[in-house]
Amino acid sequence: MKNQEVLKIDDIWLSFGGVHVLRGVSLAVRPHEILAIIGPNGAGKTCILNCVNAFYRPQKGRIFFDSVEITHMAPDKICAMGAARVFQNIELYAGLTTLENLMAARHSKMKQSILSQAIWYGPARNEEVRQRESVELIIDF
Ligand SMILES: Nc1ncnc2c1ncn2[C@@H]1O[C@H](COP(=O)(O)OP(=O)(O)OP(=O)(O)O)[C@@H](O)[C@H]1O
Ligand SMILES: [Mg+2]
Repeated sequence: MKNQEVLKIDDIWLSFGGVHVLRGVSLAVRPHEILAIIGPNGAGKTCILNCVNAFYRPQKGRIFFDSVEITHMAPDKICAMGAARVFQNIELYAGLTTLENLMAARHSKMKQSILSQAIWYGPARNEEVRQRESVELIIDF
């Protein structure tokens, strides 16, 4: 059924040469669930996330987001579907506020052209106001 699992990882295998990092990893994340992956250093936690966001390609297995298979999709397409990612070594814009850093990460949600954003044209302004409301909800959370 659609939306029963937001994210589903089905039996992924990943190796680098002779180093087998992921051997048949499966997991599912349901709506409103927060799932933590725990394990010792080098266990393969980051590799799982790298497979979800297509920085790494598993040699075997399938990954679904919102019931759509994303195993072979490009990273920007996966992001546009709503599967965002932060990194272990977090890179923030030091000169920007928390709100501005979050707004910078919303670029994939912005549909207006750079030109209309630059001249603060009506639809661009409305879009930014809407995104700002979302960012404030994230900060509250
Ligand atoms: N691009 C790569 N090439 C070769 N080996 C890699 C590569 N990426 C990860 N590995 C290896 O895969 C294994 C799992 O690494 P990973 O970074 O996923 O571990 P982790 O569970 O996130 O560890 P940590 O808790 O230290 O963050 C490690 O042995 C690592 O050296
Ligand atoms: Mg890691």
